[in-house]
Amino acid sequence: MTPAANLRNPVFCALDTSDLGQATSWAATLADTVGGVKLGLEFFNAHGPKGVAEVMRASGLPLFLDLKFHDIPNTVAGAVKSVVPLKPFMINVHANGGRAMMQAAAKAAHEAAQTHLVDRPLVIGVTVLTSMDDNDLREVGVSESTLDNVRRLAELAKISGLDGVVCSPHEAAALRRDLGPNFKLITPGVRPAWAAANDQKRAMTPAEAVASGADYVVIGRPITAASDQAAAAKRIVLELAA
Ligand code: C5P
Repeated sequence: MTPAANLRNPVFCALDTSDLGQATSWAATLADTVGGVKLGLEFFNAHGPKGVAEVMRASGLPLFLDLKFHDIPNTVAGAVKSVVPLKPFMINVHANGGRAMMQAAAKAAHEAAQTHLVDRPLVIGVTVLTSMDDNDLREVGVSESTLDNVRRLAELAKISGLDGVVCSPHEAAALRRDLGPNFKLITPGVRPAWAAANDQKRAMTPAEAVASGADYVVIGRPITAASDQAAAAKRIVLELAA
């Protein structure tokens, strides 16, 4: 089966919590305003597949299951097969795992979707974590600049059969030029002009990120830390539609 149709609302809210009740409540509150929700390692390591299913029931929204797999190809293929029955809209792996690992992830997603008669999730590569700069890359033996490294990894992700990459909004325009209109770009590091930056150092607004080529923007605290989460999400979505 092919991936679910492209979403009209590009906002994925990051439900960053280990509290099941909190995640479920945010998911229900945001069901009518955001395009999807993201659950990551903090939540998954506490509540596993059952918790994921509960949050999905609460919101009915597409899920970005952000578990960033990075292991030998056989193990990553197994991990992908284990999460496909949860019916995520997107899953991800570290592009640094290399070509064979990404190919195995893409193949496993395809096969598991057929086996379980569900839509195939988009399989997305994580390029360079936005918490890393050129110095951090040098320390792990990468001498090229962050941007060059992101471009290299994104190209490799595409060649390996992935559907897109996670990148900083600052890299989106270059990747869109490099990789064409159909390769999905997912950008965290996004802040509305009216929200606190928190620890995001080089944020762009949602509208700037989308104008730079992002297909989906991941936004957490500007929504989850707001006193009225649905109102904050609605404000973001309306700004994007303006
Ligand atoms: O609250 P905030 O909007 O900063 O949340 C951003 C979300 O995107 C978090 O879940 C964070 O882990 C994730 N993320 C990120 N930068 C990356 C990759 C993921 O901020 N490079």
